[in-house]
Amino acid sequence: MRNVAVLGATGSIGTATLDVLASLPADQWRVWGLSGHANLELLADAAQRLTPPPEFIVTSAAKAAADFDAARWPAASRVQVGPEALVELAAAEEVDVVVAAIVGRAGLESTLAAVRAGKRVALANKETLVVAGPVVKQQQQTSGAELLPVDSEHSAIFQCLKACQTPPRRIILTASGGPFRTWTAAQMRDATVEAALNHPTWQMGPKISVDSATMMNKALEIIEACWLFDVPAEAVDVMIHPQSMIHSMVEFVDGSVIAQLSPPDMRLPIQYALTYPERTACPAPRLDVAQRMDWTLEPADRERFPALALGFEVAAAGGTAGAVVNAANEAAVGLFLDGKIRFTDIVPACRRALEEHQYERHPTLQRLIQLDRWARAEVLRWHCGASS
Ligand SMILES: NC(=O)c1ccc[n+]([C@@H]2O[C@H](COP(=O)([O-])OP(=O)(O)OC[C@H]3O[C@@H](n4cnc5c(N)ncnc54)[C@H](OP(=O)(O)O)[C@@H]3O)[C@@H](O)[C@H]2O)c1
Repeated sequence: MRNVAVLGATGSIGTATLDVLASLPADQWRVWGLSGHANLELLADAAQRLTPPPEFIVTSAAKAAADFDAARWPAASRVQVGPEALVELAAAEEVDVVVAAIVGRAGLESTLAAVRAGKRVALANKETLVVAGPVVKQQQQTSGAELLPVDSEHSAIFQCLKACQTPPRRIILTASGGPFRTWTAAQMRDATVEAALNHPTWQMGPKISVDSATMMNKALEIIEACWLFDVPAEAVDVMIHPQSMIHSMVEFVDGSVIAQLSPPDMRLPIQYALTYPERTACPAPRLDVAQRMDWTLEPADRERFPALALGFEVAAAGGTAGAVVNAANEAAVGLFLDGKIRFTDIVPACRRALEEHQYERHPTLQRLIQLDRWARAEVLRWHCGASS
């Protein structure tokens, strides 16, 4: 029996994970713990559907928990409130696998706790590696934790790397190009929140949907790939593939390129991270070989999508660069979603934070957290200054 803790169970990845777990053999897999933040109706419904009920439920938002009817939780579950409880769930002795599916920097402490406790970590929360890559890697070495990628691109790379024992020559991340793939820079200036959230191939939470539209998501993935696969930024490339069927590719020294393909559905990479090295039948749709398929691959346009250049720069710089750009991005995306800044203000805010911060090559975790707070505050200060 493998006990699983799903952190961020109410989100897009979290609900897809529960779907996958419902289809795996019940005598081998158990949802032992769940967490949610504001959407407690959904969390309680998910908990009520589980047999047996989860041992441990965490609601990280104190206000939402206080306003919620406690009778909605399964009677047999222990319910705890607050971010410390998230860390406790991630590190609980009974847990074998932690699915890290909280969005943004809010997932850092719990993901780190799972790594420190030596768990298998199915990592959706790429921000943890972007913010604190060196700390995660160092703690992983000490604890022996397994970091299995959930991001479809990184899962693809992980699978392709199995084809050869020598290091890859190049990792080619594919990108759908998002909803503004064909838009001009002038059109993007007036992009609405609704348009930015309307991703052509993936159903995702709002933050990552906006990141896909700016291509900051690909920037974060470039940084994530460098940490996960121990490759320098120069060994990573990005190609636009609007159909989202080829999830990424790896080029080896002999020029052979291995790719991983499947219809766009996160349940496949989630399941692979859970069951690796085994493969079992998956609820995600399969490639329909009776249909004609026209797929395209084209170079990424780094001028219209300046986030890409930023991603390569941050990946090469390491140190404090990731924490600062990630925090500035989260703050700027929040302002955009609230209708307070333009879509095209997001990436310049990240660049400004990167350039104005005091770079350190070997920061401590405390310093990274300090800089995260600093960058968020700076973005809000610039916005207030610009709008007053
Ligand atoms: N969606 C995808 O297809 C996809 C693909 C690859 C990677 N990822 C990565 O997976 C992660 C989750 O993405 P998502 O699309 O699933 O996001 P999402 O749908 O917005 O869900 C986010 C989850 O995090 C919880 N949460 C939000 N703020 C929190 C806080 N301050 N403390 C604790 N929990 C908090 C939410 O709880 P409530 O809903 O209860 O508030 C929800 O369970 C992100 O790092 C993203 O980059 C997503």
